[in-house]
Amino acid sequence: MNAIELVRAIPKAELHIHIEGSLEPELIFSLAQRNGVALPYPSVQALREAYAFTDLQSFLDIYYAGASVLLHEADFFDMAWAYFQRAHADRVRHAELFFDPQTHTARGVPVGTVIAGLRRACERAQAELGISSELILCFLRHLSEEAAFATLEDALPYREHFIGVGLDSSEVGHPPSKFSRVFARCRELGLRIVAHAGEEGPPAYIWEALKDLKVERIDHGVRCLEDPALVAELARRRVPLTVCPLSNLKLCVVNDLRDHPMKRLLDAGLCATVNSDDPAYFGGYLNANFEQTVQALGLSRDDVIALARNSIEASFVSEARRVELLAELAAVAAA
Ligand code: HPA
Ligand code: ZN
Repeated sequence: MNAIELVRAIPKAELHIHIEGSLEPELIFSLAQRNGVALPYPSVQALREAYAFTDLQSFLDIYYAGASVLLHEADFFDMAWAYFQRAHADRVRHAELFFDPQTHTARGVPVGTVIAGLRRACERAQAELGISSELILCFLRHLSEEAAFATLEDALPYREHFIGVGLDSSEVGHPPSKFSRVFARCRELGLRIVAHAGEEGPPAYIWEALKDLKVERIDHGVRCLEDPALVAELARRRVPLTVCPLSNLKLCVVNDLRDHPMKRLLDAGLCATVNSDDPAYFGGYLNANFEQTVQALGLSRDDVIALARNSIEASFVSEARRVELLAELAAVAAA
């Protein structure tokens, strides 16, 4: 098996997928019709043509417009079930799904409706596809810390249905320290902690995510390479980075996949993983991210195995499930 065949064969965990970013244009249009929501695009093709992003904000504007078609429990179920079917085709064995409650509560959709639809898809994925999964509630960082506190309060009746909290949306100008108090409260509640940092923001934001929020993983984190002391700290503590190569390309964090820092992150001894971020918008699901990165950077079979092993080690699964997934990986890698 060459490196590409290996990508397709090995079991993997996906740790950085915004479930609202898995809404394909066709599903956006069918949900718009089902729910009587007007879209500012006349056709699926016109919507797809708008997917020419220059930076994170240019993407987020369209991403929030797409999510406006989600109103009912069945909409959230249909979206997540479509993702799980694609993930299954890519041999994803475990997935941790980000969701953005504030995007929906702002339109009058109760957080309980969002979580109920997503959980039902998670249960079906476990039963029919053997995919384990967890939900991670993300606070929108362009909104205030008070709004994040209100969102947490709103979601607490469903506490057993999400494993952790994250921080997403417009990064620059909204440093992690803006959310120190609400993340402290989340830690008291026993929630697992992650945050986007160092996608467009500077290394200082990654330091803040570590020190102020006490994150267990960094989402993106690619700009850590600008600060050798930070790289040393991330390597020493083995803080995983959930890296999203096609996202970095589409949002112009890199201009060419051949310039992507994935190989440099691995060579620096960091626990880097491959993820799809917003696959419906960035041109591919997990295996597309792996395959294009392997091709652009000439990654080896050992690199591919290390990336898959990192994803399993960095996941929030039980130790029994981790042992099971690592054994599956070892068996395929040895074949
Ligand atoms: N970065 C920040 N916020 C997001 C993203 C992203 O890539 N996708 C969805 N929300
Ligand atoms: Zn993301």
